[in-house]
Amino acid sequence: MLARVGTMRARARFYVAAALTTAINAVQILDGRATAKAIRAELGAEVASIQKTHGVTPGLGVLLVGDRRDSLTYVRMKRKAADEVGIFSSDVTLPASASEDDVLEAVSKLNADPQIHGILVQLPLPSHIDESRILETISPNKDADGFCYENVARLVLRGGPRPLATACTPAGCVELLQRYDIPLAGKRAVVLGRSNVVGAPVAALLQQCDATVTLCHSASENVPDIVREADVVIAAVGKPEYVRGSWLKPGATVIDVGINAVDDATKKAGYRLVGDVHFDEASQVVSAITPVPGGVGPMTIAMLLSNVVNLTKASVGLPMAPLPGRLADKV
Ligand SMILES: NC(=O)c1ccc[n+]([C@@H]2O[C@H](COP(=O)([O-])OP(=O)(O)OC[C@H]3O[C@@H](n4cnc5c(N)ncnc54)[C@H](OP(=O)(O)O)[C@@H]3O)[C@@H](O)[C@H]2O)c1
Repeated sequence: MLARVGTMRARARFYVAAALTTAINAVQILDGRATAKAIRAELGAEVASIQKTHGVTPGLGVLLVGDRRDSLTYVRMKRKAADEVGIFSSDVTLPASASEDDVLEAVSKLNADPQIHGILVQLPLPSHIDESRILETISPNKDADGFCYENVARLVLRGGPRPLATACTPAGCVELLQRYDIPLAGKRAVVLGRSNVVGAPVAALLQQCDATVTLCHSASENVPDIVREADVVIAAVGKPEYVRGSWLKPGATVIDVGINAVDDATKKAGYRLVGDVHFDEASQVVSAITPVPGGVGPMTIAMLLSNVVNLTKASVGLPMAPLPGRLADKV
């Protein structure tokens, strides 16, 4: 009974909040596609400038093990985006049966290749290969994905040298917030998910931006109540439409990292993509939200290219672009 009253109250709060928000202002769509396009244009100009002043073309080495369809698609998209900004890309493809030593050897060759400034190992790797061992073999100054211990440690520690690269999806979330002038300093940010790839590094970046950060995971209790406190919500749990409109504070900003395929007989493919947030409900309550697709996804690829350009700059002694937040700009 009590739970039912709680649900009714939450629902009532949701509809009142929705009515108020609709009356006051329309939701702003944080357009990752358009923002990523603008970033690619900026990077294209930087690549041309580095070529002119230093005679160097930024190079991305992509290592793919196996032939997973999703991985092939991601690699193709990354290569196309690299081409667009003038980054040279070189692919190394190994069969799914490749041994860990074969993969380590391929990474070592890319580490030693002077034409390559950033290395990307497409994840996931086949289960017989120790991913962390492979990622650790990538030289930190060629770490296009920002996953090496050294770069992660530099991100998390206060003071000291800055990371040479930061994880692309988290950097994309914060870059989008900053480009839309969403305030972070002093604000409450709630991150749903604590993975090494998204949740944990995005929480670290938000802290660098002086947000007060709460990180939730599968054992967290009262997640809706925690989310209700948030000025900024970053959802990265991998559960379709998990965050409901009734959980959100009116006027909050939502960054939806989730990409989930759900059955949809009306679509030619038989499915459609949805985020971790119930978009229709949320967009009646919040002031700004990312769409899925077209939000964080394109930003992730733009940040990968940005890492490669930055690593190239560092390799020729040029100053790197500042990272999101207050990280000191020293290497
Ligand atoms: N747009 C992009 O470019 C991009 C990039 C990467 C990922 N993604 C998408 O983002 C989503 C998350 O990816 P990921 O790699 O971080 O996934 P992941 O490694 O599976 O991590 C999911 C996280 O969510 C937490 N979690 C699970 N249930 C929860 C709950 N009920 N409440 C709060 N937290 C909960 C898990 O907690 P525990 O740690 O306790 O298990 C875990 O930390 C996926 O949909 C993925 O496809 C998108």
